[in-house]
Amino acid sequence: MDKEISNQAWRQKILSKFEKLASDSKEQKGNFMGYRITVLEGVFSPFDFPSTAICVENLPEIVGPDVESFLEIGAGCGVNTLAVALNSGNLNFLCTDINPKAVANTNLNLANHNLPQKCILSDVFDEVNPDLKYQVIFWNPPFNNVFAKSDIASDMLLKAGFDPDYAALRKFFEQVKSRLTVNGKVILCTSRVVGDLLLIKLIAKQNGFKEPKILAEQVNQGMDLCLVEFKL
Ligand SMILES: C[S@@+](CC[C@H](N)C(=O)[O-])C[C@H]1O[C@@H](n2cnc3c(N)ncnc32)[C@H](O)[C@@H]1O
Repeated sequence: MDKEISNQAWRQKILSKFEKLASDSKEQKGNFMGYRITVLEGVFSPFDFPSTAICVENLPEIVGPDVESFLEIGAGCGVNTLAVALNSGNLNFLCTDINPKAVANTNLNLANHNLPQKCILSDVFDEVNPDLKYQVIFWNPPFNNVFAKSDIASDMLLKAGFDPDYAALRKFFEQVKSRLTVNGKVILCTSRVVGDLLLIKLIAKQNGFKEPKILAEQVNQGMDLCLVEFKL
């Protein structure tokens, strides 16, 4: 019961934050954990939300120097892929986002670090070449699975935080299997309080994935965050 109350309180707090940002989001430039980035107006900002930090801190090591192919869904401003690509040898990477401003933003930050502008507009895997397979597929997805679709349908920034009934995440798990190499893995960021890890595990299991492994945990701005690995 207490946990349910705290879930609702968190979700309300996050919704208010997204609504405020959706109305007065503006371009930001700065150093995020060692990476010089621009965050365009209307794009999920690692300067305002706590989840990107655990990704940037841990992904380069999790992906490792030997991985050759990496796909990030929902890249936002692109700093996760930037961190992975700059810390790897010769990585073949691709990123996507459903938000056109996020696609432009990621390509801008990649170009500013002399990396190829390989972010494409796509709803999950819709526009990703089905012939290409990836060793690691990563998403820091919208954590909240609540609220009616009509509440957020019109606002791209709110799509960064809210995925009613986990429709997009369900689509991700239904399709990701065919995008992985043999022995490939999925890494997801989520939060036990704001997200629903039990439901995510269930969706993954229904799509053939084994019990996942927690690879990293962090409390940031009072939010519990984790990186979770899923294998077939
Ligand atoms: C929590 S934000 C994470 C952004 C960035 N990866 C980061 O860690 O800072 C989630 C991102 O997923 C994107 N997104 C939401 N639904 C999507 C979908 N169906 N397909 C692709 N991207 C989606 C959002 O636009 C947003 O950029």
